[in-house]
Amino acid sequence: MNNIDDIMIKFKKVFESTPQALYFAPGRVNLIGEHTDYNGGHVFPCAIQYGTYLAIRSRKDQKIRFYSENFDHLGIIEESLDYLVKHDERSWTNYPKGVMKVFIEQGYSIPFGFDLYYVGNIPNGAGLSSSASIELVTSMMLNEEFSFNLDPIELSLLSQRAENTFVGVNSGIMDQFAVSMGKKDHAIFLNTDTLQYEYAPLNLNGYTIVVTNTNKKRGLADSKYNERRAQCEEALKRLNQKLDINSLGDLSIETFEAHRDLIGDDLLYRRAKHAVYENVRTLEAKKALEMGDLKRFGELMNDSHRSLRDDYEVTGIELDTLVELAWSQEGVIGSRMTGAGFGGCTVSIVKDEFVPNFEERVGKGYQKRVGLTASFYHVVPSDGARKIKEVNE
Ligand code: GLA
Repeated sequence: MNNIDDIMIKFKKVFESTPQALYFAPGRVNLIGEHTDYNGGHVFPCAIQYGTYLAIRSRKDQKIRFYSENFDHLGIIEESLDYLVKHDERSWTNYPKGVMKVFIEQGYSIPFGFDLYYVGNIPNGAGLSSSASIELVTSMMLNEEFSFNLDPIELSLLSQRAENTFVGVNSGIMDQFAVSMGKKDHAIFLNTDTLQYEYAPLNLNGYTIVVTNTNKKRGLADSKYNERRAQCEEALKRLNQKLDINSLGDLSIETFEAHRDLIGDDLLYRRAKHAVYENVRTLEAKKALEMGDLKRFGELMNDSHRSLRDDYEVTGIELDTLVELAWSQEGVIGSRMTGAGFGGCTVSIVKDEFVPNFEERVGKGYQKRVGLTASFYHVVPSDGARKIKEVNE
């Protein structure tokens, strides 16, 4: 965890002035309900203790000066509020710039600029929502500094809009919602169609949520993500010839299978099948957790992975190897890929006393089969985006 005083000191070094306030937004891990959020289905993520800090000082002009400790080789990046455009070489700044642009477009005027110092401890590109974390820490900061009085759900929707329209990834609402609305010791059971949600206590006494990073660089993930989404939309369109539904999340397994011929294409059928079955699994997983039936919860996690591997085809050798190794270890309740896929991380629920063994064996087996070194994190369900310090001058 980054030391708060340390961030304040580093801000001074970089910008030669003192910061006024410090904000934090977490990352998230999704327990189950993958690739269901843009299909009107349910998701079951929780915010985690890792995230992004943002120290700020307001300016008197229109300049935004960005600095990220994670991309310190880029130095200070200077932009202007009058000209916020996507920039490929300064890619991390596209997230906060996108957020600012969306705020302005939506009528939340930003009258002056800022010096902004970001530092995050979420591994980049690991599927733990480092981008949504940067978006939300920025949204939260703008909301507080300009007293826009937007609630955390509105902030998550504005941030998602930035990701969709500025960054160009057609992501659903899960990441931004979880990052904004996270609650300590709870997972969020969210209906992505209605945005109705419920906090589900995660009483994992005696168990650890282990996130394992493939450390595979994710090439082309965004375009493949958009392609999956388009395939689901096409399947829905074909089902709409006879079925009056708004999304794949409206379908029971029985209705879906009874109308599968309408889709008329095996690939599209399998994509839609994942979305429909995964939504049903997520509903069941929530119930299993309520009943204290962790064993069933774990089985559903495993089924989710198989479906993402075989029908949705977003896993790959790295994720599959990690998950298969996890399945064969003692003390493992369930294991699956988490996030968009194509690399990134797996999430496993492991009995405490078996965690060291799990990490050693999965780590070694992965290195041997894939040739990469996995990293392990123990994540704790945590609170959402917040202001953590105000400096009174
Ligand atoms: C990414 C997206 C989310 C969601 C997941 C897959 O994290 O940002 O909206 O679609 O992939 O479940």
